[in-house]
Amino acid sequence: MSTPVPVPGRASSGGIAARARGLTKAYGSGETAVLALDAVDVDIARGRFTAVMGPSGSGKSTLMHCLAGLDTVSAGRVWIGDTEITGLRDRELTRLRRDRIGFMFQSFNLIPTLNALENITLPMDIAGRGPDAAWLDQVIDTLGLRNRLTHRPSELSGGQQQRVACARALASRPELIFADEPTGNLDSRAGLEVLGFLRDAVDNLGQTVVMVTHDPGAAAHSDLVLYLADGRIVDEREHPTAEAVLERMRLFAGGATRAAGPSLGTPLRGGDGTAVGEA
Ligand SMILES: Nc1ncnc2c1ncn2[C@@H]1O[C@H](COP(=O)(O)OP(=O)(O)OP(=O)(O)O)[C@@H](O)[C@H]1O
Ligand SMILES: [Mg+2]
Repeated sequence: MSTPVPVPGRASSGGIAARARGLTKAYGSGETAVLALDAVDVDIARGRFTAVMGPSGSGKSTLMHCLAGLDTVSAGRVWIGDTEITGLRDRELTRLRRDRIGFMFQSFNLIPTLNALENITLPMDIAGRGPDAAWLDQVIDTLGLRNRLTHRPSELSGGQQQRVACARALASRPELIFADEPTGNLDSRAGLEVLGFLRDAVDNLGQTVVMVTHDPGAAAHSDLVLYLADGRIVDEREHPTAEAVLERMRLFAGGATRAAGPSLGTPLRGGDGTAVGEA
């Protein structure tokens, strides 16, 4: 069955950074097939900070990868701005990703043989563009990486590696940033800094951020939370508070809010860093 597709460009596409219609992603086939995304329709508003939440396995990373053109779709259509990326040839897709999108992956995807600074500037080096030095300095200092720049990933802590991945995503000032659990491995101070940085990028630089998180406190930094369950967007909330997000997450089967390190919403943190209500 084909879903009616709004014509891109007619639906005020100036305000839409990314869009999907009928986005379906199946892994495997036959008995073992997994429907990771089940006909998802979504509009990601430009210049906003959108959080994506949902139980483990609900399709959050898959949604992000498909929206960003990192993974093929089984059915449906995806646009970045006015450009439909489903059906784009590899080379065009690679260029579009490189020029317009920044990623922070759930696994950091740092290159082990490059030092921190080389990892940060790698996408720009590949593109043959020099970084904006003042901006790069600001990113490096905000993320507290100044005295780690010559270290390789194996010489960095998990949190430092995550900050390098964050800096890499921000370094070229992409219009659209996809971040998959960017604070998952950070202590609460570093996590708050990363969130503050993403928030600033949206408020002051007009960037668009889509962030997957398991942390209600982190989601509270966003403008809008989308809730995924079983490959579908089942709910959303504007101007979320950590309390409201936690309450909504508890409604998911089995109360499946995975404890992913200390919550970044101070009101929800117990003395030992566990979210209140998880004990
Ligand atoms: N390469 C793959 N091959 C087969 N199944 C996959 C693959 N990648 C993901 N899946 C399945 O698709 C579903 C959605 O996975 P996805 O990684 O998007 O979940 P998620 O919401 O990001 O979970 P988490 O919170 O644990 O990161 C899961 O059932 C997962 O097992
Ligand atoms: Mg994931």
